[in-house]
Parts: sequence; C-alpha cells; structure tokens
Amino acid sequence: MNASCQSFELAELKEAFHMLTSVSRKMELSYERLKARAEDLKEELREKNARLVASLQEQKRLEGFLEGILQNLPVGILVTDDRGRVRLVNQKAKEALDREDSDLIGVRYTACDILAEVPLRPGATIERKKARSVYSCSVSSLNGSGTPGGWVILIEDVSEIRRWKALAERQKRLSSMGEMGARIAHEIRNPLGSMELNAAILLEELEGNEPLYTLAGRLASGVRTVTQILSNLLQFAKGTAPRWEHLEVTGLVGEALEFAAPLLRGKAIRVQEEYGDRGCRIQGDPVLLRQALLNLILNAVEGMEHGGSLRIGTVEQEEAADTWQGAPVQKIFVQDNGKGIPEEELDRIFDPFFTTKSQGTGLGLAIVNNIVESHGGIVEVESRVGRGSCFVMSLPCQQEEATDGYTADPCSG
Ligand SMILES: Nc1ncnc2c1ncn2[C@@H]1O[C@H](COP(=O)(O)OP(=O)(O)OP(=O)(O)O)[C@@H](O)[C@H]1O
Ligand SMILES: [Mg+2]
Repeated sequence: MNASCQSFELAELKEAFHMLTSVSRKMELSYERLKARAEDLKEELREKNARLVASLQEQKRLEGFLEGILQNLPVGILVTDDRGRVRLVNQKAKEALDREDSDLIGVRYTACDILAEVPLRPGATIERKKARSVYSCSVSSLNGSGTPGGWVILIEDVSEIRRWKALAERQKRLSSMGEMGARIAHEIRNPLGSMELNAAILLEELEGNEPLYTLAGRLASGVRTVTQILSNLLQFAKGTAPRWEHLEVTGLVGEALEFAAPLLRGKAIRVQEEYGDRGCRIQGDPVLLRQALLNLILNAVEGMEHGGSLRIGTVEQEEAADTWQGAPVQKIFVQDNGKGIPEEELDRIFDPFFTTKSQGTGLGLAIVNNIVESHGGIVEVESRVGRGSCFVMSLPCQQEEATDGYTADPCSG
C-alpha cells in the first residue's frame, strides 16, 4: 500500500470516529431526556395512583358508612331487581324473615313467608303475623316514579304499636261499659234489696211447710246469686281505690296459691312456682292484688278441665328495662296448659259479661283489669288453643328501686 492511500484511510477513520462520537453524544442526550421524561411520568403515575387509592378508600369508607346505616336501621329493608329477585337485605329484615344472606340473595322475595302475598306495586302494604310478632310490609319502587329498576320492601315490626293500640281500645271500651254497668247496678240495687228481704221473710214464714219452703229457698238463693253478681259489677263499675302498702310480690303469689290450694288439689293440678331473684318491690293493695291473682288462678283451673300444670311466679329483672310509662315493671305471670282461648275471643275476654262458661259472670277478668289498672299497670294475655294461656300482670316498681333492667319473657317457660 502506498503512502497516499494510507493517509486517505486514516482521514476516513478519523471522520467515522468523529461521527460516532457525535452520534453517541446525541444518544446520550436523548437518553438523558428520556430518563427525565420517564421520571416525570413515574411521578405523575405515582400521584395518580395515590389519588386513585384515596378515592377508592373514600368510596370504601362511604360504602361502609352506608352499609352501617342500612344494617343498623330499626326497620327491615329488602331490595330486589325488576323481577323480584333479592339483591340486598339488611340485618332487621334477616331477623324478621329468619334467614341468612346466603338463603336470600338471588331468591324471589315471595319465597319468604311473610312476603309471600306482597304485590310488587308502589304503595302496596300488607300486615302479616308471625309467631308473636306483627309485621307491616310496604313496597316502593327503587327509582321513585317511572320504570321501577327494582323494588324496595320495608318490613316493620309493629307488634308493640298494635299491642298498645289494643290496650288503649280495651281501656276505652271498658270505661264506657263501666259507666253503663254502674247505672244498671244502681237501678237494680233497690228492688233487689227488697226482694232479698222479702225472700228471707218468706223463708222464715214457710219453715216446715214443704214443698213451699224448698221453693222459697231456691228463690232466696237465686236472689243471693244476683246480689253477688251485682256486687261484682259494682266493684268493676266504681273502680278500685287501692290502699297502698309496700309489697313483696313473691309473698302475694304464695298467699293466693294457699287460698286456692284445696281447689288445685281437688283437680290434681301440678303447681310450678318460679320466682326471679331480682324482683323489685311494688306499692299496692295486697287484698286487691290477691283477688286479681285468685281470679287468674281460678280461670286457669277452669281452663284445665282434665287437670294439668299451673306455672306461676315473677320474672327476673335483667339489664335493659322493660318499662311501662318510663318505670321498670315487676311482672307476675299465671300460665296454664289448658284448653286455651280462640284468637277471635282474645279481644273480648276482658269485657264485662263476656263468658264462655254456663256458670260464669264474665266479670273476673274485667275486675283483674281494673285492679291492675288502678295500680298503674297493665294485664296482657298470650294464648293458643289446645296449648294453654299465659296471663301477665305488669306492675310498676317503686321508683327508688328503678333499674335499667329488662325482664325476660314470662310466657316462654
Ligand atoms: N286461663 C284461661 N283458659 C281458657 N279460657 C280462659 C282463661 N281465662 C279466661 N278465659 C276465657 O275468658 C272468659 C272470661 O273470663 P272471666 O274470668 O272474665 O269470666 P268467667 O271466668 O267466664 O266468669 P267469672 O270469672 O265471673 O266466674 C272465660 O269465660 C273464658 O272463656
Ligand atoms: Mg273467671
């Protein structure tokens, strides 16, 4: 190779090297720019991610908040799709339907006993009884007006409202019957007094003169029965004015049982006494309250035509009070396993003169109701035909003994 050729190649090599250096510098610069851009993008992504996480957290918190409200609402809520398949259900609804989420989601709402006859129509409301509770079930469409897009069914336990309404109606009815009874008794009292006197004279005059003496005897005993009914009626009508004493209810129940002992033994009725330890003291009239208890015991005995068992006692006071007009109450129950009372009669048994017995006056429970009411309490009944009845008197505790306790269900024993 000659010298000129060699220098030419060297020049080319130099130039190529120069180009390489410049390209590599450009590449370095581009790389730096790209790196900076990537860092920017990374930062932007980090910020966006942080915002997304925050918004997800906020959404979760909101969901939890709404879920908390939904689950803690005092009414049952069941949401369905357009075709009535359950999509969402809260705690109260599950309690009312006695079902879990897993049994409900995706199922048609009519599969739930109390909802079986509820129509999917805005404003539809149906009341259903289940065990001891009454539920009001009402429907509205999820989107308000227009196409429903789903349905909301509210399930509200209205047992307490119904119970107080029935009690108020009973008191109203009894007070007007009481007024009428008082007027009738007043009108009958005078002629009856003279009949009683004349029957007694007749009996004296006819002594030894059979068969007239026997007839006069029947007349006198008939008049005595009417007088007895009348005095019961008067007691019911004029109401009772208790003579207040501090009372221990356990003793009261024991005394009433002692009084009824011959009757209970005669019918071979097994007595089961149950007293809660944490009963409170009450203020009341022992004579009247014993009479009320005795009436309930007599009814229980008469309800157990072929013997049976009588559960009687007081209910333990526990935490979170069963109250009546703000005061904790002492409950006294009398439960039998006799023939029970048909549902259609339950509303009337406290009415004076309502009786299903050939020898009954129908005043027993009306008097019980009056006595308990005059003590500021209430009397209630639960009964099932063929299973028996449970009467519960709830009497307010003396205020200084007020507890925050609730009382267990006395009729569940
Ligand atoms: N424990 C019970 N078991 C079944 N039925 C009952 C019971 N208690 C009350 N009843 C029903 O309620 C009705 C009214 O009772 P209430 O005590 O007022 O009157 P009575 O028992 O019929 O008559 P009286 O008490 O004047 O003798 C009864 O006739 C009976 O039908
Ligand atoms: Mg009776």
